[in-house]
Amino acid sequence: PDPTQPQVVWHEQAVSRAAREKLNGHRGVVVWFTGLSGSGKSTVAGAVDAKLHALGAHTYVLDGDNIRHGLSATPQMLAERHGEEFGKRFGLGFGAEDRTENIRRIGSVAQLLCDAGLLTLTAFVSPYRADRDAVRAALGEGDFVEVFVDTPLEVCERRDPKGLYKKARAGEIKGFTGIDDPYEAPLSPELTLAGGDADPGVLADRVIEHLRSTGKLG
Ligand code: PPS
Repeated sequence: PDPTQPQVVWHEQAVSRAAREKLNGHRGVVVWFTGLSGSGKSTVAGAVDAKLHALGAHTYVLDGDNIRHGLSATPQMLAERHGEEFGKRFGLGFGAEDRTENIRRIGSVAQLLCDAGLLTLTAFVSPYRADRDAVRAALGEGDFVEVFVDTPLEVCERRDPKGLYKKARAGEIKGFTGIDDPYEAPLSPELTLAGGDADPGVLADRVIEHLRSTGKLG
């Protein structure tokens, strides 16, 4: 309980996390993929999701592009739906403060999914170390598995799946991670994947092996 906010009280669920985990046959956990745009986060997270689902695990992926359609819609998107003022107030762009808020929102959703006993996979650039560490602190060690998809900038830029690096180099997008905004690599991630020319399926197997060896798959 927060003594400064007496009107906000935590409600305990009738079904405990432990009971949900028992039913699922595995732990609730957040596997947090971080890396440059185009590094392969979503692809590897998707491969882990498919493989674990096939094994009978209860999984879900929170992915950058999808979250930006709803929970963290841009000011422009929200302006179209609810008016200019609303968009300005609640929309999130890609400036440093907005990314911090984006990661806070996602961290909070991931925490709820973890409490629901889901094996939750997240795929966001999440460029700032302090933001990721805040999610780690909120979840607690053991519930947060940080996976650094370490793909060199040159490779990401060559892939350029959305043509955004080209735009950033041309100055059409400002504050692009890796170009004119920093990417702060994790200092001690649970797992680092060299994402250059590796097969996503092989990288996914490494994540699954880590979860298995740390007892998270039951
Ligand atoms: S965050 O807040 O950066 O962690 O969130 P995320 O939702 O992952 O946003 C990154 C994706 O949005 C595209 N994009 C940008 N990336 C970096 N810098 C800037 N300025 C930017 N503007 C848009 C980019 O394609 C990222 O998608 P992925 O899927 O990682 O390539």
